[in-house]
Amino acid sequence: MAKNMSTDNNENPSRRQFLQATGGVAAATVLSGFTFPNVHAGGSDLIQVALVGCGGRGSGAAANALSTKTGPIKLVAMADAFEDRLSASYDNLSKTFSDRMDVPADRKFLGWDAYKHAMDALRPGDIVILTTPPAFRWVHFQYAISKKLNVFMEKPVTVDGPASKKMLKLGEEASAANLKVGVGLMSRHYKPLIELHDRIQHGQLGEILVMRGYRMHGPAGFFNSLPKPDNISHLDYQVRRFHSFLWASGGNFNDFYIHHIDHLCWMKNAWPVQAQALGGRHYKTNAEGIPFVDQNFDTYSVEYTFEDGTKMYFDGRCVEGAEGIYSSYVHGTKGSAIAARANDYNGPAAIYKGQNTNTKPVWQSTDNTNPYQNEWDSLVLAVRNDKPYNEVKRGVEASVTSSMGRMAAHTGQVITFDQMLNCDHEFAPNLDQLKQGDDSPLMPGANGRYPVPQPGMNPKREYWY
Ligand SMILES: NC(=O)c1ccc[n+]([C@@H]2O[C@H](COP(=O)([O-])OP(=O)(O)OC[C@H]3O[C@@H](n4cnc5c(N)ncnc54)[C@H](O)[C@@H]3O)[C@@H](O)[C@H]2O)c1
Repeated sequence: MAKNMSTDNNENPSRRQFLQATGGVAAATVLSGFTFPNVHAGGSDLIQVALVGCGGRGSGAAANALSTKTGPIKLVAMADAFEDRLSASYDNLSKTFSDRMDVPADRKFLGWDAYKHAMDALRPGDIVILTTPPAFRWVHFQYAISKKLNVFMEKPVTVDGPASKKMLKLGEEASAANLKVGVGLMSRHYKPLIELHDRIQHGQLGEILVMRGYRMHGPAGFFNSLPKPDNISHLDYQVRRFHSFLWASGGNFNDFYIHHIDHLCWMKNAWPVQAQALGGRHYKTNAEGIPFVDQNFDTYSVEYTFEDGTKMYFDGRCVEGAEGIYSSYVHGTKGSAIAARANDYNGPAAIYKGQNTNTKPVWQSTDNTNPYQNEWDSLVLAVRNDKPYNEVKRGVEASVTSSMGRMAAHTGQVITFDQMLNCDHEFAPNLDQLKQGDDSPLMPGANGRYPVPQPGMNPKREYWY
């Protein structure tokens, strides 16, 4: 039914026509059974947006949402665990977007159940942005589906096996309910990489033999953490410094490295079947000798293997003073390519005749549009025109592939994709029931320290007490 409603990009007439054709939301819901018609109660063309997780990326995603140009859109509710984060985000967004914001004090929500209130403030068919640390993604996504909301969620979407299985199921439920879901693997919306992918599919590199990704720089974000101060709980400390703790983020491995892993796998149209990896904690204290209490390795080196034997190598390092390399490459029987020339995706992407990428390219990309904006333009257009749009499955698969490399390094074992997906180590059980004052899923052990990975000691667990 929805497919017949709109074939053009002029969303306003098509949304009105949809309501006329179906007699409104109630009639359409009955007619379509479980499928939810992607229109707003009252027939308004205004899309309302709620932001859950008002940090750096959440604020950026809200700015992208409010910068879409296909019809009226407004930020109407905000939720965060912490007041300082919400206020800073609100103040920053207000500088540029005050005409597209209507977030009074009673639609600013704080605490672990703030997400529910923010989503309750929306109407079915509106959009919620999920940009907390990834541990909470399935909890928030589940509630969004129950409220019939379209969703933009950031990567990684999962960090362990049990959450990955839940998210795959939720992704299917979202499609069945005709909800649109974008996942923030923005490389997929970067036109130079879309063009490179297209050229590789048309055989310009021949058969892919090997792919390489590198993200190596000094400590970034909350890569490492010193002991928790007395005036904050373990839970609050770890959520605020989520890159340091595996339950919250998958560690810096998942958070930092997923982009290269994802876009390289995309170039091959496949996910690897297994990974083996090396890694270690070289610096266990800061310069003053105070111990780091995070769970990350300083270095990771992963060899991924695809079903046909093709290899993909990924090296990650957070070490001050070592060589900085942050780029990705594809090598084939007929030539080679630079995918990300710098950082997670930045171009120009290029193709070379031989294996030496220091020669003159035979093709180089010219597009310079912003993939963070592109992904939002596509999502909002899909919502307005009621087109199928769901990036969850590939978001989960990219997350599992990242976790497989991380687990291989942390255990010192070869880990297959299926082992990772089916691994029963649930890092943070019952996060949907989290209340103020609860303990963190990662409390100090008998030695007063958080557990860290020890390769070779336990083939089934990345850390244990
Ligand atoms: N696609 C990209 O290039 C990109 C870039 C940066 C971050 N990200 C992703 O975005 C997510 C957020 O990263 P960030 O850098 O914005 O971190 P951040 O710490 O700046 O923001 C996270 C926000 O979520 C809040 N929060 C935490 N738990 C919450 C909960 N249960 N309920 C409500 N609010 C909660 C925090 O207080 C914080 O304000 C991560 O998954 C990260 O990987 C993606």
